[in-house]
Amino acid sequence: MTAPAFTPRVFSGIQPSGGLTLGNYLGALKRFVDMQNDGSFECVFCLVDLHAITVWQDPKTLAQQTREAAAGFMASGIDPKSSILFNQAQVSAHAELGWLFNCVARMGWMGRMTQWKDKAGKNTENASLGLFAYPALMAADILAYHATHVPVGDDQKQHLELTRDIAAKFNHDFGVDFFPITEPVIDGPATRVMSLRDGTKKMSKSDPSDMSRINLTDDADMILKKFKKARTDPEPLPETYGDLKDRPEARNLVDIYAALSGQSTDDVMGEVAGQGWGQFKPHLAEVAAEKIGPISDEMARLMSDPAEIDRILGDGSDRAREIADPIVAKTRDIMGMISS
Ligand code: TYM
Repeated sequence: MTAPAFTPRVFSGIQPSGGLTLGNYLGALKRFVDMQNDGSFECVFCLVDLHAITVWQDPKTLAQQTREAAAGFMASGIDPKSSILFNQAQVSAHAELGWLFNCVARMGWMGRMTQWKDKAGKNTENASLGLFAYPALMAADILAYHATHVPVGDDQKQHLELTRDIAAKFNHDFGVDFFPITEPVIDGPATRVMSLRDGTKKMSKSDPSDMSRINLTDDADMILKKFKKARTDPEPLPETYGDLKDRPEARNLVDIYAALSGQSTDDVMGEVAGQGWGQFKPHLAEVAAEKIGPISDEMARLMSDPAEIDRILGDGSDRAREIADPIVAKTRDIMGMISS
């Protein structure tokens, strides 16, 4: 049987569980914009608020955080006219397909997810059931659109493998070729931006130390301060990228510089080999501020009109439903449920 041809379609999402970081920008947003502008894909981008509530979110701030994340997408270059931009909770297909996939995914698969182990920690008894089921909802996000390509940072790789397993098991169990086996798109020098305080931990919006990350809302002075204080070793920058193998903090700053300046890491080494940190860090901060400054200004401008952001998300949700609802209806049908 020949595989059905799926429309080339990108789906990806970001949790509105706090401010966006340089990790989100380089590992996700910037690459979303490239895929949108490439023109070969229909693009669907989602603020995944149903995922965010798997850990406590204050209802007084969640909507505001969601608007701010939407502003971050648009300020980074997502055009809500050509791409679909919406928040997950407005499209019930996600929750519904998530439930159907809870009945396809196996407990053993979920228990092996490293993000579950990290986030639940030792106290699994007290973690929400949603946190455990999270990857099945993520599979639903992607497969409700029959997405063929999913750009993400490296930390989401295991979840995407699980998405492929769920699609394959569904197709196998029901004897259909209904869900695509999605391609993860994890490429470029910054798919894993590390903390500025610890080169073995990823840069994260949930790290208690604000000095560990660059936020998209940081101004040039703050960016300079954070890079100047970033942990490094005493050695100058070496001749080749390979020589950074055992220097995680130094390599991280080189990766960030390469991603921001759009150069390969080898070209960057050609430029900066032999420099000390006193020379390299201020230059890196300047390049970062040049990129982030306009994004931050545009976010502030967009945030001054929250009603317009809500309108854009409402319109995106209508367009998202048009794709997802028939796919979920067909899924129910394949599973043997009566529907009118
Ligand atoms: P989240 O909200 O943690 O992160 C959003 C995106 O940013 C990437 N990212 C990073 N990339 C490089 N370096 C970093 N330090 C860094 N931190 C975050 C993440 O890899 C991700 O691409 N489960 C997802 C959200 C999600 C999703 C989906 C993604 C829900 N459903 C469907 C794709 C498709 C998450 O928690 O991402």
